[in-house]
Parts: sequence; C-alpha cells; structure tokens
Amino acid sequence: MKIRKITIGLAVTLVFWATALVAADKSTEVALARGKYLVENIGMCGDCHTPHNEKGEPIKEQWLQGTALAFKPAVPMPVWAEKSVNIAGLPGWKTDAAIKFFMTGIAYNGLPARPPMPQYRYSQKDAEAIVLYLKSLAPRNK
Ligand code: HEC
Repeated sequence: MKIRKITIGLAVTLVFWATALVAADKSTEVALARGKYLVENIGMCGDCHTPHNEKGEPIKEQWLQGTALAFKPAVPMPVWAEKSVNIAGLPGWKTDAAIKFFMTGIAYNGLPARPPMPQYRYSQKDAEAIVLYLKSLAPRNK
C-alpha cells in the first residue's frame, strides 16, 4: 500500500515537472520568434547592422555583425556615427542593460547611441524578446 502511494506520488510529481518544463520551453520559443520578428520586420536592424553586397542585398553570413553605413546626412551632423556595431550575440552587453537600452534608448554609459541609431522605446516584453534573440546569435566577428 505504502509503496503504491509513493509510486503514485512520484508519478504525479514527474508529470508536474515535465509539464512545467515543456511550458517553459514553449514560452522561450515564443519569445525567440517574437524577438526575431521585431529585429527583422519592425526594427529593421539589418538595414544598418548587416553588411550588404554590391547588389544591395544583405550578406547572410555576416548577419547583424556591424558595417560601415552606405549613407550620410544631407547636412553635417557633429555626432553622426559612420559605422554600426556587431549586435550578433550582443557582445559586451549585460542582459539587463540591453533590455533598458531597447526600452529607453539610453545605453549602459548613460548616453543615447549616436544617430542614425534610433532611440527605440519597446515595451519590456518586446525588449526582453529582442535581447533573447540577439543573445542567441553566435557572437562572431569579435
Ligand atoms: C538607421 C540605422 C540603424 C538601425 C535601423 C538600427 N541601428 Fe543600431 N546602431 C546604428 C549605428 C550607426 C550604431 C553606432 C552608434 C554609435 O557608434 O554611437 C548603432 C548602435 C547600436 C548598438 C550599440 C549602442 C551603444 O551605445 O553602444 C546596439 C546594441 C544596436 N545598435 C542595436 C540595434 C538593434 C537591436 C536594432 C533594431 C531593433 C538597431 N540597432 C537598428 C544604426 C542603426
């Protein structure tokens, strides 16, 4: 009797944890897909952060790895950045600082990035998804 009770107890616990793990996995998967969508289709990060070939197509092998920009301001701007940085893997960024940056446009040094980097104001949930996705990309080009 006792053994049977213990067995049932164990089985219930196992099912509970298995369900919890699958649910956690599923929500990570959903957030990753959301982050990829926000980066590729809403933020259009690749327009500035991915090098393009001579036909103007993004180079897949250097996805989001930073590049010299192909455009300049029509009037001189003192703080214009001519190059974007590598954001594949978000090297050098702690998760919290990166989330704050995508919610406020203010980087870990207390300053906004130079133009033309937009000052994004994503919601916390979207900023978390973007950071999760960018961190999932292998940091190459280091
Ligand atoms: C219009 C061009 C443009 C777009 C679009 C763009 N960036 Fe940038 N980004 C830049 C440039 C240029 C810099 C370098 C700024 C500097 O050196 O201060 C930069 C810098 C950054 C930095 C480093 C900021 C810092 O202060 O160190 C991060 C992180 C970043 N971008 C992420 C993103 C993400 C994620 C997206 C899309 C959601 C994105 N960028 C879209 C041009 C762009």
